[in-house]
Amino acid sequence: TSITFVQPDGSSKTVNAADGDNIMQTAVANNITGILGECGGAMMCATCHCYIEDARTGNASDGEEVMLECAEDEIRPTSRLSCQIKVTSELDGLVVHLPQPID
Ligand code: FES
Repeated sequence: TSITFVQPDGSSKTVNAADGDNIMQTAVANNITGILGECGGAMMCATCHCYIEDARTGNASDGEEVMLECAEDEIRPTSRLSCQIKVTSELDGLVVHLPQPID
């Protein structure tokens, strides 16, 4: 399943994600800047925050919404925790935007 990660400066990297992994794991495995996944996908850290404008990924769960409020970067209507999105072949071509790092 092909997933494209786009950095705030517009540079992008397309990787091949293993089905069954989540987007955070895919990003970490491919050294994508901007996604840390500190809690390992337990919805406890918000360091896997990203922006996804794609109806195929569904909506954030209530717990995800609450955790998103703890994200350090800008929250937008398209904000998601990437660890809560499982890679399936239906998501082929998904585009994930990374937040602007705060200094
Ligand atoms: Fe911690 Fe997603 S990896 S909330």
